[in-house]
Amino acid sequence: MNGKIVVDHLSKTFKKGGVQAVKDVSFKVEEGEFFAFLGPNGAGKSTIVQILTTLMNATSGTAFVAGFDVIKEPEKVRRHIGAALQETGVDPDLTGREMLELQAWIFGFGKREGCLRAEELLDIVQLTEAAERRIGRYSGGMRRRLDLALTLVHEPAVLFLDEPTTGLDPSNRMAVWEELRRLNKDKGTTIFLTTQYLEEADNLADRISIINDGEIVASGTPKELKARIGSDLIALTPVDGGDEDRTLHLLKSGLMDADVIRKQEKILIYVEEGTRQLLEVARILDRENIEVEDIQLSSPTLDDIFLKITGEGKKSNEQ
Ligand SMILES: Nc1ncnc2c1ncn2[C@@H]1O[C@H](COP(=O)(O)OP(=O)(O)OP(=O)(O)O)[C@@H](O)[C@H]1O
Ligand SMILES: [Mg+2]
Repeated sequence: MNGKIVVDHLSKTFKKGGVQAVKDVSFKVEEGEFFAFLGPNGAGKSTIVQILTTLMNATSGTAFVAGFDVIKEPEKVRRHIGAALQETGVDPDLTGREMLELQAWIFGFGKREGCLRAEELLDIVQLTEAAERRIGRYSGGMRRRLDLALTLVHEPAVLFLDEPTTGLDPSNRMAVWEELRRLNKDKGTTIFLTTQYLEEADNLADRISIINDGEIVASGTPKELKARIGSDLIALTPVDGGDEDRTLHLLKSGLMDADVIRKQEKILIYVEEGTRQLLEVARILDRENIEVEDIQLSSPTLDDIFLKITGEGKKSNEQ
């Protein structure tokens, strides 16, 4: 089984609207690796997944999945992958069980084997009780879990999951996470997952690439990325008419291991140990008689991370 993904200078421009959705993207996913693409709405995640799963052609560049060229050998690629996409076409009149048995038949299972596989998968995604209900009546979360089960029927070498937990409640999200971890560890399935949640990528992936506006802006293990980003964020709003430049300068020089940047009326401080640094920030403000309207400690959101990474990009371009 060759579960590798190799993407080289991939670009996609949609004729309609002329949107350049993917801009010269290159990356590799090793066999057995759990890889996550992290990015906001419109970043180009689904476009890349569709190209890699042979549902769409790239404008330029090459991509190999499981050892086969997605453009020249699409049938071979399809035989080695499973894909749970954002928009799937399942027949709402079939029951969950029927849909799984149909999928098993498509992949060449015999009748008995197919029934057994369906039973097993219903159990894994916790849909046994809803197995006889029509898919049209499933909730969003149940549909997502059925989508996942459908991709697992033939035990693919590479699994593509496009935002598999968006819209799931916390317990269903955990159940999907567990199953994905098990597949990756026990079966050695290579997993390519897209998500908008930093927490999801952090919890699951061996390696993450952050994608924004069609480009990979940062890549690394969760640990490496967090070291770059800082795991906590202190946001403070100086009082109206306060000297923001001075505050910014004082915080920058006073805090050793922090990145301090300005975002509109706020000052954002990216740090490793938020609580300890919060005390230090309070000390500096107090000593310098700087008044603030508001001060908050939180985990950075994807937005904060992009802001930081694109800010870094600008800095290095200027040098
Ligand atoms: N079929 C299409 N025709 C024209 N433009 C498209 C098409 N599909 C996507 N786009 C555009 O390409 C860009 C990337 O879209 P894509 O669906 O890949 O983003 P995404 O990262 O999957 O976002 P989301 O998190 O919202 O699913 C967007 O600007 C989108 O409007
Ligand atoms: Mg998408």
